[in-house]
Amino acid sequence: MDDRLEKGEYMKIEDIGNTPFKCKLLLGDAKDVLQDIPENTFHMAVTSPPYWSQRDYHVAGQLGQEETPEEYVENLVSICREVKRVLREDGTFWLNIGDGYCKKNIKSSNLKHKDLIGIPWAVAFALRKDGWYLRSDIIWDKKNPQPESTRSRPSKSHEHLFLLSKSEKYFYDAEAIAVPQKEVSVRRAYSKNNVEKRKDYKNDNYAISGKSQDKTYEKMRKELEELGDGEVITRNKRDVWRIATASNKIKHFASFPMKLIFPCILAGSSSKGCCPKCQSPWFRESKKNWKPSCDCGESGLKECLVLDPFNGSGTTGEVCRGLSRKYVGIDLSEEYLSYARDSLIGSRSELEAEETNSIKELIDF
Ligand SMILES: C[S@@+](CC[C@H](N)C(=O)[O-])C[C@H]1O[C@@H](n2cnc3c(N)ncnc32)[C@H](O)[C@@H]1O
Repeated sequence: MDDRLEKGEYMKIEDIGNTPFKCKLLLGDAKDVLQDIPENTFHMAVTSPPYWSQRDYHVAGQLGQEETPEEYVENLVSICREVKRVLREDGTFWLNIGDGYCKKNIKSSNLKHKDLIGIPWAVAFALRKDGWYLRSDIIWDKKNPQPESTRSRPSKSHEHLFLLSKSEKYFYDAEAIAVPQKEVSVRRAYSKNNVEKRKDYKNDNYAISGKSQDKTYEKMRKELEELGDGEVITRNKRDVWRIATASNKIKHFASFPMKLIFPCILAGSSSKGCCPKCQSPWFRESKKNWKPSCDCGESGLKECLVLDPFNGSGTTGEVCRGLSRKYVGIDLSEEYLSYARDSLIGSRSELEAEETNSIKELIDF
């Protein structure tokens, strides 16, 4: 993880200033609750649904208790269809999901006892078939995975985080999550003989040709020359993220770590904010210059709006609070929702955090 996160340097939104954190927590089945929300409402959604056949949340109608993986995929896809409807056309959906092994009592005709089920990819392909653009398979490489007693396969230590979009073109702020370039690459950019050294005389299909590498280095040298005081040269974030699992605040919460969600919200919603009239996000036309993506010509900016349809303990809300985004969380469990309400708003004054009466109020604010 890059150290800007550790230092808390992401914890500011440009220009909007310190407005109180606004959110709305809604009790109910995600699919039903989403059906009451107007289309094109959210800038992005990020979530971790209950995994299939793993944890009982002790609420009627919960996802994850289906008899077969096929039924689970179908149910999850139908909830995600509603997520797609309420997302803006330029919105993204970040879906964290883990796999499991077939237990003895599973009745699926496609599976044998001990088979790796392949749930994440079954879900990803079904979502793609349902109209989503499948854009990235980010691997959450767990620093501290659960120990397993198995001696017949490697221990499982990763989960998937799929990046999906509603349209071919969408908002994605690569710069917000860019990581510092390695010193060795910077040095290489200045190496006099670099083209000759990299040339592969025998194999024309070598990974990157000297010429294209040279272009990259040229760009890097230009960037280095334009850097201001205290700035560092960066590269695009890669798709394997090494992050420790979250310690459970309350027994039974399968919380995802805040560090997994920070990059999703930074890349998926504008840190500059959005147009107060049409909610279109401002985007970077260069590293430091921002532009509106609409022609409204409105002065002023508003915070972007984020959704988590499986709110749990409210981790996504916590991250939204830290990053000045507005938040809507849905959960079927009254107990979990009330825990999240306490931790997100709790004893905070209205100047710091507030739950609005309606989603409309949240959008209009
Ligand atoms: C994996 S947990 C989410 C954890 C959350 N990301 C966090 O960091 O705390 C899944 C949540 O989905 C909720 N849930 C299960 N079925 C649901 C449904 N049909 N609609 C809405 N919420 C549901 C459970 O109550 C549980 O809180």
